[in-house]
Formats: sequence, C-alpha cells, structure tokens
Amino acid sequence: MTDRKKLVAGNWKMNGSLEENQLLINALKHDLNENNSGAVDVSFFCPSPYLSQLHVLLKGTRFSYGSQDISEQLSGAYTGQISAKMVREFGATQVIVGHSERRAYQSESSRLVASKAQTAIENNLLPIVCVGETLEHRESNQVESVLAEQLDPIIEKTAAFVKASEWPLVIAYEPVWAIGTGVTASPDQAQAVHVLIRERVAAALGTEVSQSLRILYGGSVKPSNAEEIFSQNDIDGGLIGGASLKSDDFSGIIRAVKG
Ligand code: PGA
Repeated sequence: MTDRKKLVAGNWKMNGSLEENQLLINALKHDLNENNSGAVDVSFFCPSPYLSQLHVLLKGTRFSYGSQDISEQLSGAYTGQISAKMVREFGATQVIVGHSERRAYQSESSRLVASKAQTAIENNLLPIVCVGETLEHRESNQVESVLAEQLDPIIEKTAAFVKASEWPLVIAYEPVWAIGTGVTASPDQAQAVHVLIRERVAAALGTEVSQSLRILYGGSVKPSNAEEIFSQNDIDGGLIGGASLKSDDFSGIIRAVKG
C-alpha cells in the first residue's frame, strides 16, 4: 500500500479575531513543537482577512495555511469574491473548496466546486475538496450516487493534472449529518465511504492514483474519537471544525493521528 502522509486541517469557519488567533497559534506552536516532527502535515484555514496574520505567525514553522474558499475566476467584476492569486500573495498554499456549508448556504453546485478545484491547482494551491451526503441521502440509500455526483465533475476537470500517479488534491469526506452536531460517523461507516471514494477514483484514474490520494474524514472529530477514526486503513487524517478552535483539542487530535 502507498504510504500516504497524514494531514490534519483546522477549518476555523467564521470564527476568530486577531487576538484569539494569535493566542491559538502560539499555544499550538508551543504544544506541537516536539511532537510535530514532520510525521503529520498540519494546516489552518482561517477567514481570509486573517491570511496576512497567519503569514506572519506561521513563518518558519512547518504549518501550512489557506482560505476556506476561492472564486473560480482570477479577477474582475465579482464583488465579494477572493481569487487564488490573492490568497497566494499571502503565502497560502492550500484552500478548502466545496464545504457543505458553502454548498448549502451559497448554493454551490458540484460543477462550480470542480471549477474552483481546477483554478486552485492551476494557481499552485492544494485544494481540499469536500464531499458528503446529508442524513436524508443516507437514510434513502443514496450515499453512493450522491458521492458520484460530487466526485465525477472533480475528476473530469482535474484529471489532466495527474502527474507521476499523483493527483494534486485532497478529498475530505464530511457527512453533513456529522458536521458540528457531535454525532460522528462510526469508524466503520467512515472507512466504508472512503473505500467507495477510492474505488471511484481508481475506476477513472487508475489504482496508483487512487492509492496515493489522501482522503480526510471530517465531522465532529474530537481528541476522544480521533485515534479510532484515523487508524482506519483508508482514512488519511481529518478536517476539523469546532475542535480546531481550542489548542488542547486540536493538538490532542494531531497526536492521535500519530497513534
Ligand atoms: P466539525 O466541522 O468538526 O465542527 O464537525 C467539520 C467541518 O465542517 O469541516
């Protein structure tokens, strides 16, 4: 099996302030100093006004950071949107696209999400592309078809960027019913969906590509459940919301990944 480096990503959502961010990052730098020797990738996704702050706070560390969304366009008359180039100017190297909160509240379609992933790659940002079903989908046995509808446009728009069996993106499986609810998918439930995702990618892009792809789990991950979730074969780390805002919780989750 390919050795996939684990990634723990903190999605701050619309939270934080200059003061809170500084306290959080300083506490994490302190906590993770000896523990984070490079075995786990760690990244932070802040509200975009704080990218310049992270640019300064994270200088000289191994931590990456990025924005929680970008436009599929690069510049122009798109009021309120933020381009990949702007995000890059602040040293960001990653971006979340297609988070379920954007799909739900900003009506983002799977095609738009795929275009954003493409724009990210073209501008040297690593996209973490979120997919996942609602409770309604799960209860009506639609998990596989929903994931196919979300994944296929991403594959279509970014397959051309596969190089040496590496697809330059990360998928985050985030069941909508587990996000911010305190209800976590069981390790078996999550593992089963990660396998489905890997199989779909293998069918389109080949086994080597699918084996090198990192697939994160997201949805109510906490220090107490992280180790069990992350020990599943096809789970390569996590996208963490609420628990990424507390330094103890976030560093506990990072330590859990390393087992
Ligand atoms: P949560 O959010 O960890 O608060 O459930 C995860 C996410 O939305 O990325």
